[in-house]
Amino acid sequence: MTQTFLLLPGDGIGPEVTEQARRVLDVVAPDLKFSEALFGGASYDEHGLPLTDEVLNQARQSDAILMGAVGGPKWAGVARHLRPEMGLLKLRKELDVYANLRPAFCFPALADASSLKREFVEGLDIMIVRELTSGVYFGEPRGIDDLGNGERKGYDNACYTSSEVRRVARVAFEIAKGRKGKGGLYPGVTSTDKSNVMESGVLWREEVIKLHQEEFANEPLDHILADAMAMQLVKKPKDVNVILADNLFGDILSDEASQLTGSIGMLPSAALGEPGTPGLYEPVHGSAPDIAGKGLANPCAAILSAEMALRWSLDRADAADRIWNAVGKALEDGARTADLGGSMSTSQMGDAIIAAL
Ligand code: NAI
Ligand code: MG
Repeated sequence: MTQTFLLLPGDGIGPEVTEQARRVLDVVAPDLKFSEALFGGASYDEHGLPLTDEVLNQARQSDAILMGAVGGPKWAGVARHLRPEMGLLKLRKELDVYANLRPAFCFPALADASSLKREFVEGLDIMIVRELTSGVYFGEPRGIDDLGNGERKGYDNACYTSSEVRRVARVAFEIAKGRKGKGGLYPGVTSTDKSNVMESGVLWREEVIKLHQEEFANEPLDHILADAMAMQLVKKPKDVNVILADNLFGDILSDEASQLTGSIGMLPSAALGEPGTPGLYEPVHGSAPDIAGKGLANPCAAILSAEMALRWSLDRADAADRIWNAVGKALEDGARTADLGGSMSTSQMGDAIIAAL
């Protein structure tokens, strides 16, 4: 059956990097049926909305979605609920893609590009599983109240239900099962929380423990406070295998981990829901307005996001492996965009990866 792939190039460098991903997909999966739609600021400019119902329906009917990035200073004055970033939150929430996979993998050729010394990052391979559709980013009530005495109060609500914790923890355990053979201090799933000071953290830890006992008792499981994990990531990151984190801690820990791999331009991500839900794939970086339109963006994160789509949504591990190996080979051969200390343009980097294919 024909598999359908929706491209949402978005704003800033989004269209530049997704174009290279599309070129690579054309080589390894020429039978995919592509469609493309406006999203984020580009959609706002045309339709007055960052995500139209039509595009949302198109997304629901696709097998996989590749998003570039959204937002930028151009839309800074737009009402909050119409901002490009709100389109992205809505897409994630509507698709209910609750498990955000953010691999922090250091390609051998980039071990010297990391912010840590080579010995700490050579062979680094961490998978962060971040809860994406609940927690403090979505909890109600939230708002800014005027207290009437010259003071204002801003508040958010960090809350999780047991099923929200269990379903994302299950994904983390399943992933850890497929990554056997890791040593180190934290060899399996390491669940992060702030159960020392937060009730939602207490529930998080209790539900992870229960699920582990019921379904994954043979898998290693550790618990660590989220701040201690932040320290561990810069102390001895290779000791870590799979990190399970809520929406907020996962956001922070994955940016931290990204720096270990050389450049934010290298990091892909996947957002997955229940079986049958289209996966939403996107580079971890944003629209990079400072370099947009100049052909300077590193397309690797977008290309590796396409790689994740082939692996996690389209059941094409062979094609995914080809992309993975080609990116590694191109880097070994010295292909570098500016963020990696080189001088290649976005499309030249795409050329190098296609040549390696
Ligand atoms: P950013 O990730 O766009 O840029 C941070 C820095 O990294 C910049 O110096 C940029 O030039 C560089 N950079 C990012 N991607 C790169 C690449 N592929 N190659 C080379 N260099 C790269 O984050 P920033 O500046 O905080 O946000 C810019 C806009 O993007 C904002 O409007 C923000 O809301 C939006 N954003 C959107 C995201 C998304 O669509 N998922 C995620 C993060 C930010
Ligand atoms: Mg973030």
